[in-house]
Amino acid sequence: MKKYWWQDAIIYQVYLRSFQDTNQDGIGDINGVIQHLDYLKNLGVNTLWISPHYDSPMDDNGYDVRDFFKVSEDYGTIDDFKALLDEAHKKDMKVITDLVLNHTSDEHPWFQAAKDPNHPEHEHYHDYYIWQPPKFDKKGNRQHPTQWVSWFGGPVWEYNPPTKSYYLHIFSKKMPDLNWRNKAMRESLKQVIKWWIDLGVDGFRVDASNHLEKNWDFPDAKPGYEHFSSLPKHHDYLEELGKELFKPNNLLIIGEAGGATRKEAIQYAGFDSNEFNMLIQFEHCWADTDETNTLTPGKWAKGSIDLPKIKNSFAYWIDVFKGKGWNTIYWANHDQPRIVSHYGDDKKYHERSAKMLAFSLYLLPGTPIIYYGEEIGMTNVDYQNLGDFRDVEVFTEYDNFMSYGASHEVAMQALRDRSRDNARSPMQWNDTAYAGFSKVTPWINVNGNYQNINVKKQLNKEDSIYQTYRALLQLRKQENLPYADVNFYDLDHPQTFNYEVKGQKHNYLVLCNFKSTEIKMNKLPSLNEYTLFMANVDVNDVLSTTYSPFEARIYRKPIKA
Ligand code: NOJ
Repeated sequence: MKKYWWQDAIIYQVYLRSFQDTNQDGIGDINGVIQHLDYLKNLGVNTLWISPHYDSPMDDNGYDVRDFFKVSEDYGTIDDFKALLDEAHKKDMKVITDLVLNHTSDEHPWFQAAKDPNHPEHEHYHDYYIWQPPKFDKKGNRQHPTQWVSWFGGPVWEYNPPTKSYYLHIFSKKMPDLNWRNKAMRESLKQVIKWWIDLGVDGFRVDASNHLEKNWDFPDAKPGYEHFSSLPKHHDYLEELGKELFKPNNLLIIGEAGGATRKEAIQYAGFDSNEFNMLIQFEHCWADTDETNTLTPGKWAKGSIDLPKIKNSFAYWIDVFKGKGWNTIYWANHDQPRIVSHYGDDKKYHERSAKMLAFSLYLLPGTPIIYYGEEIGMTNVDYQNLGDFRDVEVFTEYDNFMSYGASHEVAMQALRDRSRDNARSPMQWNDTAYAGFSKVTPWINVNGNYQNINVKKQLNKEDSIYQTYRALLQLRKQENLPYADVNFYDLDHPQTFNYEVKGQKHNYLVLCNFKSTEIKMNKLPSLNEYTLFMANVDVNDVLSTTYSPFEARIYRKPIKA
């Protein structure tokens, strides 16, 4: 049944900047990851995904690469990186890195040459990026070529006076988009990829992979996403990389691509695809928006949780890849709020809801990706000032909220609920100053709840969130759950998350109350043949069907030979 090593991977995403600072500069580093390999191994992890470690001015925390061949001085040296690979490999752990192909930093030498007509290599590098002449209105005022809107909220165009033209940036203006139609550019990026493969990385998470192709007719539209996202030709580019570099090297390639259709998903990550092995999509990630909110609209508008949407999304993706490719299961990453604050309860039912979220996800088939701190129930930030935030996206969007008429307080609450910084505060290792992340003031504030929520407190506590994660990950291995068949119950029920998976020796029935009110479970299979295996509360009557807020239980029954 098993075909590839990554089908048994248990991936942990390390947001390098926030994991562990070992040289006391307030910034996490590669040695910090090495220091905690045993911690991760003990949790059950066997594969690390390291967020961008490349040299960068850090406009977008490293997704703005200045030098692909250099490790950021914030994070260490190339020798540190090699040591990470060696140490991880010695412990039978794999390491995959982020691979940023859609754009570079504006400080990358390619862009420095591209933007400057007097640069000796201008001619060669100019077309590594995407340029358009201005439009002019009737009065002769210069206008953007189109009204397309960047993923971070402002225009996608930035004027470059020396060339009298605009360059395209679908993220921040310090992240100019690369021109994938240019073969020389593609060859340059292939050299980058080859270099890291030769160094020994085990794979990549391909950033923003569905944005590589643009509509070069530049039709006007607002926001215009359909002109720079998921255009068919980006598959050609990915396939070229796959055939030449990814497939021949037995790598794990995870593509980040929101909005893929069923057919396209197989094109990306079917077993026979040359592009990726797994896909990250975001269908379940923002299932609680409020379309009526005009002050902080879109993903920023917090509404009630549409649980059927979440469950149907999991069921759908499992079905899409069944027998044809491989599924990934994850709650969230560095671009979304902390899951316990987002879909659980980070106050009264913190521990209980964190465990419920773990039960509901981690018995499903596929490869799990755990986001750092999730295993101890880290929560959204408690920042009170705009200046506490760090993310480039926060500042463009804050200005947008003001222009839509939001008050400062409304905007701040939206940031505390929804911004990416929620998922980027320092890892909470213990209850000493700065949560044991660093001995000096960190680059972003530690969450004020670190004395209650930290690794030290949970490591040796039998029923902690950490130990629950550990037990579930062990169970995945023992029962071969990555390959399990699953049957969801009540997919359209707004409050329960119930399913049954078939392991090696047992069937597991997972029953979760996803919300903060008591509920009576209906339409369950008879529990007579099952025994209670795990629960996130003390269960007095194992046959009772009344579930307290966020209560979750796992029952099992042996599979008869
Ligand atoms: C997706 C990454 O996950 C996000 O953090 C980043 O800002 C954009 N791609 C741009 O690289």
